[in-house]
Amino acid sequence: MPLLYDESNLPDISTLVAKNYDNINPDEVEPIKRIGVLTSGGDAPGMNAAIRSVVRAGWNAGIEVYGVQRGYHGLWKGEIRELDKRDVSETLQRGGTFLMTARSKTFAEDHGVLKGARMMETYGLDALVVIGGDGSYKGARALARLGMNVIGMPGTIDNDIASTDYTIGYDTAMNTAMDAIDKLRDTASSHERCSVIEVMGRRAGYIALNVGIATGAEAILIPEVPYDFNRDVLRIILDGRNRGKKHYIVIVAEGAGNATEIAKQIEAATEIESRPTILGHLQRGGSPTLRDRTTASLMGVHAIDCLLAKRYNRLIVEKNGVITDVDIEEGLKMTKTIPEQDIINAKRLG
Ligand code: F6P
Repeated sequence: MPLLYDESNLPDISTLVAKNYDNINPDEVEPIKRIGVLTSGGDAPGMNAAIRSVVRAGWNAGIEVYGVQRGYHGLWKGEIRELDKRDVSETLQRGGTFLMTARSKTFAEDHGVLKGARMMETYGLDALVVIGGDGSYKGARALARLGMNVIGMPGTIDNDIASTDYTIGYDTAMNTAMDAIDKLRDTASSHERCSVIEVMGRRAGYIALNVGIATGAEAILIPEVPYDFNRDVLRIILDGRNRGKKHYIVIVAEGAGNATEIAKQIEAATEIESRPTILGHLQRGGSPTLRDRTTASLMGVHAIDCLLAKRYNRLIVEKNGVITDVDIEEGLKMTKTIPEQDIINAKRLG
């Protein structure tokens, strides 16, 4: 039964300032004895590998690891249980997250954060490892501002976390989409059709750009690059038809448009039969690729290293192929977008 809190004495969280461990003397900080780990936001293939790594590396370093079920909701409600090394056996290869996840709106409010912090105290959690995307990181930052120790690990298929070059689940999602698009090309070629495929990515086009290159799409529509339908879609298809092409692949990132609408527009303008496919949550499932299993595993080891070094309130990142960490406040101020050269290269392959 979660503790009942006197919500009349909520501290004004906005006035709290995150502890900056960069200049705290480690000798003055108690070592970590017990941590919690949770998954939050949209699930991603490789999250289980990340949890497994935190559990295995944690226990091997003498740290007790507790699992929090259903993301921040579970933290708030005290759905917390010890995870031993056997609990994570046979999870590395499984998609999804065995701790389950949730998009927790309530956690963003002060009372949710406060309840989460107090539940950490109730279970004696000296730190919390949060595996998720930007929204999950903001919840972790709120806990840090309350004096809790947190570590963030980038888990989302979108690859849209600015502090890192790579997010767990990204490679698996792209391979799932690529395999689906190859199959769609087979049937589009049989019927001399245009196949318009909508991929995930929230407000980013990383998945769309890369699977578009990998599948030789005629057109790739991403939120980062404004497009003109007549010039960038219609003209491309008509030029192809005039060169004798018999089928067409158009990739649209969900943040750039709607496959159903675009297919209708293409068919109306060209009389080429056009069919939309929205890959949707197919991209969130499946057994993680080697890239995601190894990256998740090594990021989990680095998360434990940060805790052992008493480097708290860090985001685990991959920068130029190296796994490292950045301060959570700094990391959440960063921005990133698709490099201009990647877009030029895609156009040169068009
Ligand atoms: O953030 C991952 C993601 O799959 C996005 O690409 C997508 O827009 C969103 O989650 C879908 O959210 P939900 O699973 O809540 O429908």
